[in-house]
Amino acid sequence: MINSILTSLFYFAALSIQNGNTVGGYANGTAGNALNALNFPGGLSLDYNGLIYVSDFNNNRVIKLQEGSLVGSIVSGTGVSGSSASQLSSPAGLYVDASLNIYVVDTFNFRVMLWHRNSSSGNRVAGTGSVGTSSSTLSYAGGIVVDSLGNLYICDAYNHRVMKWLANATSGILIAGTGMAGSSSQQLNMPYTLYLDESNSYLYIADGLNHRIQRYDLRYSMNVTTVAGGNGPGTGSHQLNTPIGVYLSKKTGAIYIADSNNHRIQRWIPGATHGVTIGGLAALSGNNATLLNQPRYVSLNLNETQLYVTDGSNNRVQRFQLI
Ligand SMILES: *[C@@H]1O[C@H](CO)[C@@H](O)[C@H](O)[C@H]1NC(C)=O
Ligand SMILES: *[C@@H]1O[C@H](CO)[C@@H](O)[C@H](O)[C@H]1NC(C)=O
Ligand SMILES: *[C@@H]1O[C@H](CO)[C@@H](O)[C@H](O)[C@H]1NC(C)=O
Ligand SMILES: *[C@@H]1O[C@H](CO)[C@@H](O)[C@H](O)[C@H]1NC(C)=O
Ligand SMILES: *[C@@H]1O[C@H](CO)[C@@H](O)[C@H](O)[C@H]1NC(C)=O
Ligand SMILES: *[C@@H]1O[C@H](CO)[C@@H](O)[C@H](O)[C@H]1NC(C)=O
Repeated sequence: MINSILTSLFYFAALSIQNGNTVGGYANGTAGNALNALNFPGGLSLDYNGLIYVSDFNNNRVIKLQEGSLVGSIVSGTGVSGSSASQLSSPAGLYVDASLNIYVVDTFNFRVMLWHRNSSSGNRVAGTGSVGTSSSTLSYAGGIVVDSLGNLYICDAYNHRVMKWLANATSGILIAGTGMAGSSSQQLNMPYTLYLDESNSYLYIADGLNHRIQRYDLRYSMNVTTVAGGNGPGTGSHQLNTPIGVYLSKKTGAIYIADSNNHRIQRWIPGATHGVTIGGLAALSGNNATLLNQPRYVSLNLNETQLYVTDGSNNRVQRFQLI
C-alpha cells in the first residue's frame, strides 16, 4: 500500500509539468515600461547576492530585481534609446562580474559598454559604435561573458563569429566561426549566446540557426563538439529549434538551453543524445504559469536550486525550481 502510494507520488512528480513563478515583469505577459514591467527582456545575469539583472531590450535599460519585489531599479541606460555614454539602444547580452560591474551589449549602438558599479554612465570596451565586419566592429551582437582576467567573449551574431577582446584591447580575436554563416563544424549561423566554463577551457555556444549547441575546447581551437541538438530544427527530444540561451551546471555538467522557437527549456546531461524538458511545453506558446513564449536567456542561481529564464515575448522573467 505504502509502496504503491510512493510509486504513484513518484510518477506524479516525474510526469507533472512544472509551473514557473514570475520574478520580473507582469505575470500576465503584458509589456510595459514602469519599474515593475519589462518589454522583450533578453540578457540575464545573477550576482553573488542572487540579485537578478535583466536587459530590458525594448525599454533601452538594464533592470535589477530582488526576489520578493517585482519593482526593479534601473542600473544602466536611461529608458530612452540613444548613443550617449549614459544611454543604451536595445541592450542584449549582460554580464555582472564579481565586483558588480555590468558589461552590457548595446546592440543597436554596435558596442559593449562597461558600467562600473553604481555609475551613471558607461565606457565603451568593445566595438566602434558602427556596424561592420572588421576585427574592431560588431554586427548585432548577442551574448557576452567575461573571464576572471577581464577578457570579453562576445557573440557577434550577424557576423557568425565569436570574438575575444582582451581587456583594454581595441580589436578582437576570432575564437569561433569563420565570419560566414554555415553549418560545417567550424562554422556558426547566428551564434546568439555563450557560456564559458573557465576551469575546463570550454566555451559553449548556442549556434541558433544550426539548431545546436557547440562546445569549443579553447586549448585546441579546432576541437569542436556538438553537445546538444544538431539534428535539424524540430520538436523531438533530440532536436532544438533556434536555441538562444545556454548555461552549464557546475555541479553536474548538464547544459540548460532556452529552446526558443520550441518555447521550452531543455536539459541535456553530459553525453546525452536527447534532452529533457524542465520548463514550458514543446511547441506550445502561451502566457500561463506553465508556458513560455520565446524564452531567450537562462541562468542558474549560485547553489543551482533555481533556473531563471527571460520569457521574451511574455515580457517577464520566470523562475523554475530544479528538482
Ligand atoms: C497585466 O497585468 C498588469 C499588472 O497587473 C495590468 O496593469 C495589465 O492591465 C494586465 N494586462 C492584461 C491584458 O490583463
Ligand atoms: C553602491 O550603491 C549601494 C546602494 O545604492 C551602496 O550601498 C554601495 O555602498 C555603493 N557601492 C559603491 C562601491 O559605491
Ligand atoms: C585596463 O584599463 C584600466 C583603465 O585604464 C585599468 O585600470 C586596468 O588595469 C586595465 N586592465 C588590464 C588588464 O590591463
Ligand atoms: C583536441 O585536440 C588535441 C590535439 O589534436 C587532442 O590531443 C585532444 O585529444 C583533442 N580533444 C578532444 C576532446 O577531442
Ligand atoms: C497552461 O496551458 C496549457 C495548455 O493549455 C495547459 O496544459 C496547462 O495546464 C496550463 N497551465 C496552467 C497553470 O493553467
Ligand atoms: C540556495 O540559495 C537560495 C538563495 O539564492 C536560498 O534561498 C536557498 O535556501 C539555497 N538553498 C540551498 C539548498 O542551499
